[in-house]
Amino acid sequence: MNRSEIPYIITSLWCNYHLFKGCRQIMATTKSFLTEPYSGYHNDIPDNNLELTAVERGSKMGELLRRYWQPVALAEEIGETPLAVRMFGEDLVLLRTKKGELGLMDRHCPHRGTSLEYGLPTDEGVRCCYHGWHLAVDGRILETPGDPPISTLKDKLCHAAYPVKEYRGLVFGYFGPPEEIPEFPVYDSYDIPGDKLVSYCITYPCNWLQVHENVMDPAHAVFLHTRVTFSHFTDAWGLLPEMEFRETPTGMIYITTRRTEDGVWVRSNDIIMPNLAQVGYVLEGGDRLKEFGRVGITRWTTPIDNETCRIIGWRHFHPDVNPDGLHNEADCGIEKVDFFGQSGDRPYTERQRLPGDFDAQVSQRPIANHNLEHLTVCDKGVMMLRRLLRKELRKIESGERPNVSSVKSNGAIPTYCHDTVMDICKPGSGDDNELLLRIGREVSDLIVDGDYQSAQDRPEQIRKRILRYVDDLNAEINPK
Ligand code: FES
Ligand SMILES: [Fe+2]
Repeated sequence: MNRSEIPYIITSLWCNYHLFKGCRQIMATTKSFLTEPYSGYHNDIPDNNLELTAVERGSKMGELLRRYWQPVALAEEIGETPLAVRMFGEDLVLLRTKKGELGLMDRHCPHRGTSLEYGLPTDEGVRCCYHGWHLAVDGRILETPGDPPISTLKDKLCHAAYPVKEYRGLVFGYFGPPEEIPEFPVYDSYDIPGDKLVSYCITYPCNWLQVHENVMDPAHAVFLHTRVTFSHFTDAWGLLPEMEFRETPTGMIYITTRRTEDGVWVRSNDIIMPNLAQVGYVLEGGDRLKEFGRVGITRWTTPIDNETCRIIGWRHFHPDVNPDGLHNEADCGIEKVDFFGQSGDRPYTERQRLPGDFDAQVSQRPIANHNLEHLTVCDKGVMMLRRLLRKELRKIESGERPNVSSVKSNGAIPTYCHDTVMDICKPGSGDDNELLLRIGREVSDLIVDGDYQSAQDRPEQIRKRILRYVDDLNAEINPK
């Protein structure tokens, strides 16, 4: 036996051990890690660990997500007839009564199961088409008209219904324990002066987490969005930035810092636990000075079932964020948004040649198998998000309530998504990449930390502090 045969012998022993001892369970939990060319035959697929991904009834992540208000549909999707929707693997209907109240309930009539999408909205709720049972929006049964008047059946039953809230063109449902219903959280980005929110949604035929965690994967912007085919957004995205990730009072942010032609561009996307995310201006190129430029997209990744999710949220249209007016409100709505590669509506062959976010994420399998991944330094944000989600799951398991920040600024909860472009020169001596890392960190300190978080004029205070920081830093790195 020579030394080059050792790996083969070890591999062979390993395979024989599993084949002949029948230890399939061990293989199922062992990472596939092939080291030889043409070794596809040995590519055993380990079972998927569904702790973070499964959302249907009885799952841990489903229990966590149910404790937050979740968007179910765009208000414009609800017409005169009930809308069939699905959340957490449950078939439901969403309807508007003749008096304008919203109802969200199990799709199947409690009598004999006819779908209430064929029901007729009434003043108080919906009437089933089959035998006329009349259900209130809160699930009370108002009439069972085929029964004798003395029947008390309707007083003993309730249909499964969930609380609903309409807010700025979106309809939210609360699916958790009724006694734990939280206040509807209002974040500062919902009400930025001069900002217009345009609702949109896109259905993804894959698990929710692989779509959500993309927001904490800034490296994909360099490759998928810029270098691999063509610049989906701006060329500035193609420079691999200095990358860091940090926790915030509501979740986490990424911090990417790049030197552009005119200065230093720091960008942070925001994850607000567990499944809300905010993304900066999509066509940002770091070519104009700005301090704490705000949000381009606010979006939830909503769990339809284990293998389907829906992005629902708003595109923000603000003249400061998008000074050139490059976007198009008319392209945002039901199953569409106004930037490249976000849905599966392009021809398959075109998506193969010029893939976008939708294609990259959906094709990670119906539920991405974390046991098959080989995570690298580029995936630090994804790892951190998974760790924070696990922490929240442990809270639910021990009976604690999940966190929502109690800090308010101008009546709303602060968020941290931003683009900041500063006129900072290169250092006279020393490593520019280290300087960029430091700038990203220090600008994020100014945005995330400090007693001014709760100030009425927090954005203004942050902007002033950034300008002062730029002056001080330029004086420090290039003293006269
Ligand atoms: S099935 Fe709905 S009333 Fe009979
Ligand atoms: Fe992307």
